[in-house]
Amino acid sequence: MNIEHQNKQTFFIKTFGCQMNERDSEIMAQLLREAGYAESFTVGEASLIILNTCSIRAKAEQKVMSLLGHLRKNLKKNPDLKICVAGCVAQQEGVEIIKKMPHVTLVLGTQNIYQLVPALEYASQGGSRVVTFFKYKYSIPRFLPDFSLKYSIQPFRKFITIMQGCNNFCSYCVVPYTRGREVSRLAADIVDEARVLVENGVKEITLLGQNVNSYGMTNSVVKDGSRGVYGFAQLLKDVASLKKKGLRRLRFTTSNPKDLTDELIACFAEIDILCPQLHLPVQAGSDSVLKRMNRKYSIEGYLELVNRLHEVCPLIALTTDMIIGFPGETDSDFEQTMTLLNTVRYHGSFSFKYSPRPGTRAAEFPDVVPEEVKSARLTRFQQRQDEISLERNREYIGTIQKIMLEPEAGSVLLSRGRTETNHIVHLQEPVKGVAGDIISAEIVSAGQHSLRGKAV
Ligand code: 5AD
Ligand code: SF4
Repeated sequence: MNIEHQNKQTFFIKTFGCQMNERDSEIMAQLLREAGYAESFTVGEASLIILNTCSIRAKAEQKVMSLLGHLRKNLKKNPDLKICVAGCVAQQEGVEIIKKMPHVTLVLGTQNIYQLVPALEYASQGGSRVVTFFKYKYSIPRFLPDFSLKYSIQPFRKFITIMQGCNNFCSYCVVPYTRGREVSRLAADIVDEARVLVENGVKEITLLGQNVNSYGMTNSVVKDGSRGVYGFAQLLKDVASLKKKGLRRLRFTTSNPKDLTDELIACFAEIDILCPQLHLPVQAGSDSVLKRMNRKYSIEGYLELVNRLHEVCPLIALTTDMIIGFPGETDSDFEQTMTLLNTVRYHGSFSFKYSPRPGTRAAEFPDVVPEEVKSARLTRFQQRQDEISLERNREYIGTIQKIMLEPEAGSVLLSRGRTETNHIVHLQEPVKGVAGDIISAEIVSAGQHSLRGKAV
């Protein structure tokens, strides 16, 4: 145990789910450090355990509940242990969590993370243990990263949350209920946050939101402005201007195809540090399924976007999300999903069996696809994706790629990095450098999940 930790309160955060949760965990960690807590590197030693949870699919939620059950043992060893459940399960289940798991100290909602420290204190003194207030007109507070407390490996790649929530109500999705209505942060707050990161050595920034393409559309993001006068393309350009201070790469996620504008597509040509990579979730390959999913675009429209992206940025690497076995998905619907996969030939994809979520419209839809059909379709989809990923990766053999080196614990020699397209490259011979340096490497071979290269 670290000496510094001995008399201090210590925390351990376990994060489930998306990058939005990862960023929220960082924010909670910073708030705790500012309140005098130290980070613990094991669950066993911590005096505060936070589970930052995800409820996008039933499995994610079950994991949280079973972990909470296990934590009873830790409580026996350390009766002063505090346990906090944050994130989407906290928001959705609220007091139900306390009913099932009475040993939980605090349930903290997605819009309440900034109140973590006082809420914990209050709950520990017998106050309310469920803090899940949900504002219709929420605004994400100004919050700057703190580099005065140095910890772990020097960061070189960071996320910035630019918006939260979603107004799209895709019929399968729990996000509008767990994260609330869409709200965009002030542009000045985002640019300031990015500037502080870059001034402290961060080389790559990813802008995060459930649907970044509609940034600035539901509320004004400039002082005294009206909504829609400053949009996502403008924000990208303003953040990209930090190139002069040392920012080398910019990415963003996630984009809803229905809001992918020509102006945004043009950014891939106009902004040189914007990486040629886009995650563009399609969810299904058949128009009738898309309609029932309430996605508001057709496959024809989606393929037009893909073409335009390739025109503007021929080397762009596209990835997607796919839901398999949505209610009413027929064999023919699924074949259309396979056709789409074979047409776009995504560099990679995340595919999931449809999981009904309480409170969503699709949970009531008829013609539920039997579990074994879902499984068989998912396997077929994933096998084909694996083949395509390998073919796509092989296309890089013989090319020279710029790779940004990644840290390796306790080593001055680095042997791994990422291309602009976000492919992992393992170097044949390690090189000297620091995380965030960019070197050129020739790709010599390719596997399904990574490339091998040699520095040139
Ligand atoms: N069942 C299965 N997958 C889902 N996703 C969202 N909701 C569900 C659900 N109910 C997937 C979508 C989304 C990704 C983050 O999770 O593909 O893009
Ligand atoms: Fe969920 Fe659809 Fe919003 Fe994405 S766009 S968070 S899938 S409701």
